[in-house]
Amino acid sequence: MTGPLCVGVIGTGWCGGIRAVASARSPLVGELHLADIRQERLAEVAELAGPAKSTEDWTELVANPAIDAIMVSATPETLHYPMAKAALEAGKHVLLEKPIALTLAEADELIALAESQRLKFTIGYSQRFNSKQAMIKRAIDDGTLGTVTSILLSRHITRSLGAKISARTPLSPAAMEATHDLDFAFWCLGDRRPVRVYSQNAWGVRRETLGSPDTQYLVVTMDDGVVVTVGAGMSLPPGYPNQSTTWIEVLGTDGAILADASHRDIVLNTVADGVRFPLSTMPGEYVDHVYAGPMERETTHFLEAVAYDRPVMVDPRLARVTMEVYLAADESAARGEAVAIRA
Ligand SMILES: NC(=O)c1ccc[n+]([C@@H]2O[C@H](COP(=O)([O-])OP(=O)(O)OC[C@H]3O[C@@H](n4cnc5c(N)ncnc54)[C@H](O)[C@@H]3O)[C@@H](O)[C@H]2O)c1
Repeated sequence: MTGPLCVGVIGTGWCGGIRAVASARSPLVGELHLADIRQERLAEVAELAGPAKSTEDWTELVANPAIDAIMVSATPETLHYPMAKAALEAGKHVLLEKPIALTLAEADELIALAESQRLKFTIGYSQRFNSKQAMIKRAIDDGTLGTVTSILLSRHITRSLGAKISARTPLSPAAMEATHDLDFAFWCLGDRRPVRVYSQNAWGVRRETLGSPDTQYLVVTMDDGVVVTVGAGMSLPPGYPNQSTTWIEVLGTDGAILADASHRDIVLNTVADGVRFPLSTMPGEYVDHVYAGPMERETTHFLEAVAYDRPVMVDPRLARVTMEVYLAADESAARGEAVAIRA
C-alpha cells in the first residue's frame, strides 16, 4: 500500500450513503469526496461521513487527480455506464452498483477499459457478502455437498421498494433483483456456464401503475445440466417482511443446504405500526456501532483490493454473463419460450 486512499462516491442516496460512511470509517481511507445533485441528501451524508469536499458536479471527482477510487451509486441506472466510463478513462478504480450497464456492448467497453489499464473494476453484488451465502459457497467448494445438481433462490421485496425501483427505469425484476441471485448461483457454480433460460412473468398490482410484473421467475440450464431457479418479486405488502425475504436451497449428490434469509428472526411490534421485521434490507444498515448486512464488508473489500492490489471478489466478466442471462430471460418472458444463451 502506498498511503491512505483518496476515495470518491458519486450518488449519495441509499447505497451511496452506506458506501460513504463505510469509507469514512475505514482506516484505509485518508480523504473522501462526495457528489450528488440533491443538496439536502448530500448535506445529510456529509454530516455522517465528514468528507474533505462535497459537490453537486460529479465530473469534479473524475477530474481530481488525487482520487484513487470511485464508487458509482447514482440512479437512474442510465447513469451507470457514462459515469463508470468517465471514471475508468480518468484512471480510477471503480466499484459500480448493479446493473453494470444497459447493453452488453457498454459492459464490454467498461471491462476492456479497466483491463487495459489494470484498474480494479467490480460490480456491487452485495449478497455474496452475507454470512449465509458465504457458508453455502464454502459447502460447495469444499465438497460437502458432492456435485451440485440444483440451486433455487426465491426473493421478494416490498411493494414500496419495488415501486421506487420500477418507477425510475423500465428494467425488469430479472435485471434489477434476480440479478443478485443469478450472480450468486453462477459464482457458486465456478466454471459451469448458462446455456438456456426460460422465464415467465406473474402480473398483478404493478401492471396498471408501473407496467411491470409483480414477480418474474427464471429457470436457467447450465452446460452440465445443473438447474438454477430464481424468483424475483416486488409486491410484498409492508411488514411481512419489512424490506426483503429470501429462501435458498442448494442440492448436491452428497447433501443439501437450505438457508432461511427471511429476516423473521427479529420482530418489532408497536401499537402504531403493528408487526415489522427490522434489519431486513438487502444492503443492510448501520445499527450504531455495528453493521447488519453485507454492504459495509463489500465496500471495505473493494478498498482493500485497491490498497493492497488484491483481486476483487466480483469479476465484471461474470457480471456480463449474468447480464446475458437476464436479458435472455426478458426475451423468453416476452416470447413465451426458452431462449438460448449466446456464450
Ligand atoms: N447492492 C444492493 O443491495 C443494492 C440495493 C439497492 C440498490 N442497489 C443499486 O444501487 C444503485 C443506487 O440505488 P439507491 O437505492 O441507493 O438509489 P437512490 O435513488 O437512493 O440514490 C441515488 C442517488 O443518485 C443521485 N444522483 C442522480 N443523478 C446524479 C448525478 N448526475 N450526479 C450525482 N448524483 C446523482 C440521486 O440524487 C440519489 O441521491 C442502483 O442502481 C441500484 O441498482 C443495490
